[in-house]
Amino acid sequence: MPQSATKPFIDVLTGQRQTVPPLWMMRQAGRYLPEYREVRAKAGGFLDLCFNPELAAEVTLQPIRRFGFDAAIIFSDILVIPYALGREVRFEVGEGPRLEPLDDPAKVATLAAQADFGMLQPVFEALKIVRGTLDAKTALIGFCGAPWTVATYMVAGHTTPDQAPARMMAYRHPEAFSKIIDVLVENSIRYLLAQLEAGANALQIFDTWAGVLPPAEFARWSTGPTRRIVEGVRAKVPDAKIIGFPRGAGAQLPGYVEATGVNAVSMDWTAEPAFIRERVQSKVAVQGNLDPLALITGGAALDRAIDDVLSNFAQGRFIFNLGHGIQPETPIAHVEQMIKRVRG
Ligand code: CP3
Repeated sequence: MPQSATKPFIDVLTGQRQTVPPLWMMRQAGRYLPEYREVRAKAGGFLDLCFNPELAAEVTLQPIRRFGFDAAIIFSDILVIPYALGREVRFEVGEGPRLEPLDDPAKVATLAAQADFGMLQPVFEALKIVRGTLDAKTALIGFCGAPWTVATYMVAGHTTPDQAPARMMAYRHPEAFSKIIDVLVENSIRYLLAQLEAGANALQIFDTWAGVLPPAEFARWSTGPTRRIVEGVRAKVPDAKIIGFPRGAGAQLPGYVEATGVNAVSMDWTAEPAFIRERVQSKVAVQGNLDPLALITGGAALDRAIDDVLSNFAQGRFIFNLGHGIQPETPIAHVEQMIKRVRG
């Protein structure tokens, strides 16, 4: 019997609604957990943790052990791809990522075409350890950043409120910007295939900054490259299960689903329920979309927010998640409250 037949999370991605929706959280391995902070302190830098197979596997498994989520997501970061392309990538405590900016065509001309996949071996090792440890009903998710979102960090060198540097570069120097996107498409396909090979049961493509683009640019830089990645992965693994997360895509979600061929989309908390049910959930599974701030709040406000999400989406193919990553200050008791309420 194929292993997937026993995983509720994978069953939803193949089109079978579950009475109790499978549940996991974006950023479920992270600073809100004391056991994560302990391993993180011992590992040294954030990238040292990502590239230590035993420790990365350990923090991936921590939220599964504590909460029994239906899916584990491999502990890594979307910026390991620029790192393996030879770009300088650092994580400053309390500041987020720092990269050497790639903000003009002359710099883009020096960009490597191929990532050094040897540098990413520890991620594949960690996936093998995790898959070997999880029980058969818990799915393992591999991931990458969408080319647009990874490019926004590569161009600016850091997070900005609206990723203006990458938007400017895409208008001013579309050819150079296309080259960055093309390099990311090709290397992301290889990276995702290697994650499937190492034991990932499904993949998620994070396009955190999709929502800052006007529609024509969204089609060009978010939907198009994501479609190429989905096609490239399925050319080798035809039944690969892929979730897209074009955060902030709003009214463009139906077009994104149709063009990319993803099995599911993850929604942020601004998604309009009736629109999603009629135009998106009628075609593919949906995942989301509890406001992480409701999870920080807890109490009756959290119960109401959970009930809203369930009444909006749980009649169809649905995976319960947050609308974006869990925040470090979230009380663990609120996560427990959420799990109890969703599972009934
Ligand atoms: O979800 C998980 O548990 C898996 C691990 C994961 C991380 N990053 C670990 C991480 C995943 C899936 C990501 C994806 C990621 N990384 C995205 C897309 C999803 C999203 O959240 O929008 C983005 C944009 C990044 C880039 C990135 N990495 C930023 C902007 C930051 C700093 C912000 C922050 O929360 O500190 C990171 C660092 C990072 N990645 C941390 C973790 C647990 C915090 C680092 C630490 O522990 O000190």
